[in-house]
Amino acid sequence: MATQPLQFAVTPNPNAKSTEERDAILADPGFGKHFTDHMVDICWSARGGWHRPRVQPYGPIALDPAAAVLHYAQEVFEGLKAYRHEDGSIWTFRAEQNGLRMQRSARRLAMPELPVEYFLESLRQLIAIDGDWVPSAPETSLYLRPFMFAKEAFLGVRPAEKVNYYVIGSPAGAYFPSGVAPVSIWLSTSYSRAGKGGTGAAKTGGNYAASLVAQAEAYEQGCAQVLFLDSVEGKYLEELGGMNVVLVYKDGRVVTPASDSILEGITLASVLQLARDRGHDVQERRVSIDEWRDGVASGDIVEVFACGTAAVITPIAQLKAADFTIGDADAPAGELTMSLRSELTDIQYGRLPDRHGWLTRL
Ligand code: PLP
Ligand code: COI
Repeated sequence: MATQPLQFAVTPNPNAKSTEERDAILADPGFGKHFTDHMVDICWSARGGWHRPRVQPYGPIALDPAAAVLHYAQEVFEGLKAYRHEDGSIWTFRAEQNGLRMQRSARRLAMPELPVEYFLESLRQLIAIDGDWVPSAPETSLYLRPFMFAKEAFLGVRPAEKVNYYVIGSPAGAYFPSGVAPVSIWLSTSYSRAGKGGTGAAKTGGNYAASLVAQAEAYEQGCAQVLFLDSVEGKYLEELGGMNVVLVYKDGRVVTPASDSILEGITLASVLQLARDRGHDVQERRVSIDEWRDGVASGDIVEVFACGTAAVITPIAQLKAADFTIGDADAPAGELTMSLRSELTDIQYGRLPDRHGWLTRL
């Protein structure tokens, strides 16, 4: 069924940042610290469906203290980037995949599915008004964060009948303070991120809340991210707190964990496609921690990297666990890792032809 086009009501922000203020932020955006002048908001109710689409000044959201999200965490979100090309135009990368994933997350959280056309239109609306916030320095972008939560004030435990969808934008440089330098990661053996039949494959706040003590442990150990194992046997790799993981073998195999409790990464799917295009044997299968440890010891595993929208592709030099360490913190970035990174970012920034049709102009 075709969706009715939405007519957005636009309220410009009277307190929008000045060009000077904005330029100062864009010169060194960091990650997730600064926000553009506007946000998009669409309401949903069980009776009225999607309605009241608005572009309004960025600012606090008033919530009833009984709003269901505050109690039962009924929430889903997405993360994608808008890239400025050399000619000034602004593009997103596989945004419809984010829209579809948000629908899958919403289904798991018993929330309404935002039509993908509305998802894409919401991004266009934000860029139409805040396009000047898309930075142009190398490797910078505007991180877009669509999210949706249960707004209904009701303390009974059931799917909410009132939900709001928003999009905010945040200018972004590298996610890790070390940039693309190889990172060390911490193996969590005390905590799982997601369980069998749980919400691990959905992009929902609860998964991140569940990862935070383990992430804090990682920081205490001097590591940038935490790696989780499967919650049933505590043996198979899952993913990092906020990114997927890929192992590269000496013979050219590119291997990534398959699991129904991890997020289906869009960066991962794209990187695997680029590797396949180059003739690599790409395997999505269970990978045990022993396979990683033995593979590095024997020299069969030669590179490991993390990938995700925020992380792009970040080399992993070392895995630290309570009773063993794999790899060397000073190891240089792997060759395939960095060459896939260049190819991916060259496509995203329009420096290479978009042969898979992954870019959409905003
Ligand atoms: N896994 C988790 C837990 C994430 O938060 C992310 C980031 O969104 C990813 C994987 C990578 O997904 P994507 O490449 O779609 O950003
Ligand atoms: C993303 O990469 O979009 C994420 O949501 C991960 C988070 C670490 C920022």
